[in-house]
Amino acid sequence: MVKVLFVCLGNICRSPTAEVVFKRKLEEAKLSNTVHVESAGTHAYHVGAPPDRRAQSAAAQRGIDMSALRGRQATRHDFGKFDYILAMDRENLENLKDICPRDSQATLGLFLGYANAFTETEVPDPYYGGPGGFDHVLDLIEDASIGLLKDIKKGLDAP
Ligand code: 4NP
Repeated sequence: MVKVLFVCLGNICRSPTAEVVFKRKLEEAKLSNTVHVESAGTHAYHVGAPPDRRAQSAAAQRGIDMSALRGRQATRHDFGKFDYILAMDRENLENLKDICPRDSQATLGLFLGYANAFTETEVPDPYYGGPGGFDHVLDLIEDASIGLLKDIKKGLDAP
């Protein structure tokens, strides 16, 4: 089982969106039983909370239901559980490096490192912006999800 953790600040906008979008890509590729996906926030502001209503409605417009997700905080134990720990922006990548155990084997990096169509390197925080920000978050995440899936498939196909 390959395990992927997406991480943002609050775990109510970007990383839960990445979780549901990437899960859909896995379903389409018939890899849902091979790749496990979760999301978390580097801060505890929204632990136990459902995704932001604006994130839910942007995802619903693309046919994805994210209402069952609940916020949780990333911990150092995640580094022993996940193969990929992918941050939405540099601030959260730094937050993760601060709690990363020295012997971690996880691939830790920026999610948009797997993007192809977009040249942006960070998924911008949509929390204080308008609804258009959530659509752009989805576009970036869809793009990077395709690249990440390719990378994981390459590893699965390797002898
Ligand atoms: P997220 O967005 O990191 O994409 O979940 C945010 C959610 C909440 C806050 C900031 C960003 N906040 O300041 O409460």
